[in-house]
Amino acid sequence: MTVHFIGAGPGAPDLITLRGLRLIERCPVCLYAGSLVPAEVVAAAPKDARVIDTAPLDLEAIVAEFTAAHAAGHDVARVHSGDPSVYGAIGEQMRRLEGLGIAYEICPGVPSFAAAAAALGRELTLPGIAQTVILTRTATRSSPMPDGEDLAELARSRATLAIHLSVTNLARVVRDLTPHYGAACPAAVVFRASWPDQTVIRGTLADIRTRVKAAGITRTALILVGPVLASEEFDDSRLYAADHSHVLRPKA
Ligand SMILES: C[S@@+](CC[C@H](N)C(=O)[O-])C[C@H]1O[C@@H](n2cnc3c(N)ncnc32)[C@H](O)[C@@H]1O
Repeated sequence: MTVHFIGAGPGAPDLITLRGLRLIERCPVCLYAGSLVPAEVVAAAPKDARVIDTAPLDLEAIVAEFTAAHAAGHDVARVHSGDPSVYGAIGEQMRRLEGLGIAYEICPGVPSFAAAAAALGRELTLPGIAQTVILTRTATRSSPMPDGEDLAELARSRATLAIHLSVTNLARVVRDLTPHYGAACPAAVVFRASWPDQTVIRGTLADIRTRVKAAGITRTALILVGPVLASEEFDDSRLYAADHSHVLRPKA
């Protein structure tokens, strides 16, 4: 018996991996994070599967489901939004499973930052502009940031930022980033990337807050910031340069 942590992808049902979908199709138990996992993905569970939305459950109740499935010898599809390795809260579930001697595996998914970049039609790493993407969030009352990870500190890198769980903190985000990126730095907010109601707001640090307010976006949005969002002046990468040889394209 194995608990399979599965990334459902950002929302569009056809953005789950084949492996993830096949696991859901064959597991007799499916526990899914209801708010962000699409219904079509959950509908792939077997007709007689035990299918449970974990949004109203606490960790103990989820662990009780794992334990019951283990006792019955039933594999579990534990479905999380995006990729479970970021803000998936799988760390504590895996720790409990280890304590209980229950096997688990992780099946990756398409993360929301990748879906947001796709919606914007941008590469997040451009030669000479930015070669680093920072996946981060801002503090809330229940989730403080560890020392050294405040946005104002990360901003000193001037890397491309993908800021999760923070659209209601946009004023603070703008305030912390502007001294380092400049008010004219491109910024974007993507609401429900890949869902039918996906909304893309483009602007700069100076006006993004006004634009997002006008659109009424208050949840399930990713904030992207960095010069890559609007740069047209960047070097070609060396990968396809005619005078660059490598192991798959040796010198003639
Ligand atoms: C609990 S985290 C889950 C992140 C997820 N594991 C991932 O790989 O993206 C939820 C946050 O991720 C972002 N998010 C998740 N799905 C999104 C989507 N389809 N479009 C935009 N942002 C999304 C939002 O910032 C949201 O507040």
